[in-house]
Amino acid sequence: MQASIDPISQLTERFADAIARAFPQIQGVVDPIIKACNQPELGDFQCNAAMPLAKRVGMNPREVAKAIIAAVDATGVCEPLSEASIAGPGFINIRLREDSLVASLLALDRPDLGIPKAAPPQTIVVDLMGVNLAKQMHVGHLRSPIIGDAIARTFERLGHKVVRQNHVGDWGLPIAMVVARLMKLAEQGKADLNSLTLDQLDAAYKAAQFECQRDLAGLEAVNKYGLGPKALAECEAQVSGATEAFTQARQTLVKLQTKDPATYAVWEKIRDVTMAVCLGACKRLHVNVTAEHNAGESSYADELAPMVDDLVARGIAEPDQGALIVRLEAPEFGSIKEPCLIRKTDGGYLYATTDIAAIRRRVQKFGGERIIYCIDARQNLHLRQVFGASIKAGYAIHPRTRTPALMEHAAFGSVLGANGQPLKTRSGENIPLESLLEETVQRAGAAVKSRNPEMSDDECRTIAEAVGMAALKYADLCNDRVRDYMFSFDRMLAFEGNTGPYLLYALVRIKSIFRKAAERAVGERWKQTPPRASEHAEKQLALALLRYPGTVHGVAQALEPHRLCQYLFELAGAFSSFFDRCPVLPSEGEVRDGRLRLCDITARVLEDGLHVLGIPTLERM
Ligand code: ARG
Repeated sequence: MQASIDPISQLTERFADAIARAFPQIQGVVDPIIKACNQPELGDFQCNAAMPLAKRVGMNPREVAKAIIAAVDATGVCEPLSEASIAGPGFINIRLREDSLVASLLALDRPDLGIPKAAPPQTIVVDLMGVNLAKQMHVGHLRSPIIGDAIARTFERLGHKVVRQNHVGDWGLPIAMVVARLMKLAEQGKADLNSLTLDQLDAAYKAAQFECQRDLAGLEAVNKYGLGPKALAECEAQVSGATEAFTQARQTLVKLQTKDPATYAVWEKIRDVTMAVCLGACKRLHVNVTAEHNAGESSYADELAPMVDDLVARGIAEPDQGALIVRLEAPEFGSIKEPCLIRKTDGGYLYATTDIAAIRRRVQKFGGERIIYCIDARQNLHLRQVFGASIKAGYAIHPRTRTPALMEHAAFGSVLGANGQPLKTRSGENIPLESLLEETVQRAGAAVKSRNPEMSDDECRTIAEAVGMAALKYADLCNDRVRDYMFSFDRMLAFEGNTGPYLLYALVRIKSIFRKAAERAVGERWKQTPPRASEHAEKQLALALLRYPGTVHGVAQALEPHRLCQYLFELAGAFSSFFDRCPVLPSEGEVRDGRLRLCDITARVLEDGLHVLGIPTLERM
């Protein structure tokens, strides 16, 4: 990675070196604890390491601070340090050099904004979306595509090759049940296979599930509590119906597996209807998931039997009471006590079996060096088992590096309603995704209209769409993803605070400065004028700008887009303080031009950051 242009990182590096030189008896790297200075009149930053270090080396903290100052080589970054820089018990106050700040800003002010393309690029697979056929999309389907796409965009921004994979749940007995039910309904003239909607499919799915599971619990209860022959006969009749539906579903699955044309055609219809809704939602959300990213479970179906044979032949999988399992207790496979079940006693394969085949394809065929699963936190054990089994099988060993691909679960929590319970409609149903998107845009429209009463309806609609999607996505992204997050239209659509609309507005405001500048014929000399970093507010803005490259790298490392949200919010705040205190267009000459240059860099960083998050931006609002 290229040398950092962020003064905090630069100071951290130099002070860490100094501590290592001054106290060679200390093992390992010591964090020099560089923080913004509490009293700006004393310095821009302070090093707080002397106090904890003093305890470790048994010295007076001010003496420790002196030793650090004597050892530090921070030429070119900050003003010379002396005993006068030491304050209180041993804080070291640091004043940045203005010219070094300006030089760093100039290094940032390039088309790549201080983020050059990774060399060499890595191949990174991002597993996101993963809808299931024949199920209506609801709010629970927001998080994986929104967070997953932001992570994918982050890696693309860093110049890596990203392979998005939509691991659609499109195979197995549940789907076969729906296919069987729809075929029966069509036969009876109760369904038209040519005009299916996802709602109908969803209903068929639920009915099929119900039909297949009918009253097994009832039968159990009768047997347990001895409710008499009549109850028993009733329950048995219902259960035999269920068994019949099951048998039919099994037969349908076999027909699907052998691609029986009539059966397969119905499956294709179900797939097309579901995927049209899914990809339509992605498009509206500005999530880059399209048909080319589909890699459904069905696409692995033919690979499972030979793969499992291979695992058995090599002793990776072993029989256990008629089933096949992969044991994962060893530390190199994750020290997991629950073995990974890859074939049931009835010969059926499982969700995990397909996921192991997926890792094989992603690493061996696509060359994935890092595989990221943007999936609900509740699937953590499943993923750890699949990761462990793939390592044991050798499938995760990258063909070039000969080391296992880095496999990570970018887990996320649930979307909660105001009551702290999973978000549902009043009657306890899941909220359909489409109506949720619609309501967001409608509310955004009302907010935009109230701020711009004279705006045309057309323009208002276009802006409302972008503001709505920005609000919705940002509300999801700005939270630590592993935590549940509370959904609130009012909060996400507010134009103040850490929200999507606030950031869009911050950007629009800077763009309008340049429109005004053009009206006043300010010229383009600012493009050649160095950015200003003299006054406190200018410096603070400069420092915020310089944190951008490090922030994007941090998001990629931790798979945490909320770090970028927090950063952009702080940047917008620094800009706002700057704009309040440092007049731009009312100033003149070099001052005005240097400030315009700061405005321009800020707008570009804001816009770039929002695009990395997958949030559409606007020219005006
Ligand atoms: N279809 C799955 C579900 O609804 C999500 C798929 C996630 N991806 C994966 N490779 N398992 O839970």
